[in-house]
Amino acid sequence: MSAVVTGIDAGPGIDATAVAQGARSLADGRPLLELRRVEASYGPYRALFGVSFTVPEGSVVALVGSNGAGKSTVARVVSGLVRAKAGSVWLAGSEITRWPAWRIARAGIAHAPEGRSVLASLTVEENLELAARALLGRRRSKGALDRAFGAFGRLAERRHQLAGTLSGGEQRMLSLAKVLAVPARLLVVDELSLGLAPAVVDEVFGALRAVRDAGTSLLVVEQHVDRVLAMADRAVVLVRGRVAAEGSVAEVLPVVARLLPQRAPVAGAASSSAQHRSPQQPGGRPGRPDAE
Ligand SMILES: Nc1ncnc2c1ncn2[C@@H]1O[C@H](COP(=O)(O)OP(=O)(O)OP(=O)(O)O)[C@@H](O)[C@H]1O
Ligand SMILES: [Mg+2]
Repeated sequence: MSAVVTGIDAGPGIDATAVAQGARSLADGRPLLELRRVEASYGPYRALFGVSFTVPEGSVVALVGSNGAGKSTVARVVSGLVRAKAGSVWLAGSEITRWPAWRIARAGIAHAPEGRSVLASLTVEENLELAARALLGRRRSKGALDRAFGAFGRLAERRHQLAGTLSGGEQRMLSLAKVLAVPARLLVVDELSLGLAPAVVDEVFGALRAVRDAGTSLLVVEQHVDRVLAMADRAVVLVRGRVAAEGSVAEVLPVVARLLPQRAPVAGAASSSAQHRSPQQPGGRPGRPDAE
């Protein structure tokens, strides 16, 4: 049994000490998260075709691709909201493919989904308390509030305001704060900065960096490809439900530039190619065979 499973059996909430201590290395070199040939469907519609990739312990992995490529579906499969039809998902060497979402959350995978998920008739503080207590219990939820307010000063100023009266950007921030409040081994973030003002996007990325620096691994789906690649160690490019490329950011950059030309990073080596017109359309055939 791995330390993760022990943490679950130990009682309510994840094992915060194990989370903090286990941040850097899995003794046997296994990745923190591994997807092996995952297939997923919505009714008759197949969204993922044999998706395989890994998130090494302590790393930031960017998951990029055009609209409808399957990024959110991957995030949902990892956090147990969508069940894989075939293939498997592994957390620190334990298979979690058929675990319910609550058990995956307690094992240390936190998921910040697309959009806003706040309770409008509760205050900012009540929203955070509720989220933290569900996973940590009443006793340990105090530290969770401190962490959330430390990451987002703007929310601390509005702690007694009803969440429904926050601006759209502030509600998105609160959604993220609810997730950041609880220590996690892996944080899965889905398009958190969508539609946010640039200053708020800066704040969101600052918070993600702080989470990473505290030892949490990250799987980040983000429309600001240049920004997420700037903080990522590795990247996975999805095209129509298949992995078109996986590797270090440097390895994957040419594929990103070809498949997502309008979103390609403008920094470093990619700056000159930002002018290039790719002969292929976004969403066209992947430049490489699947990573199988
Ligand atoms: N609840 C659902 N029911 C039916 N089909 C769905 C559902 N959610 C997603 N899909 C389909 O599955 C495919 C993958 O969708 P997904 O939301 O994972 O893509 P995405 O890469 O996150 O796209 P976006 O960048 O637009 O958020 C799409 O073709 C989408 O239409
Ligand atoms: Mg999506």
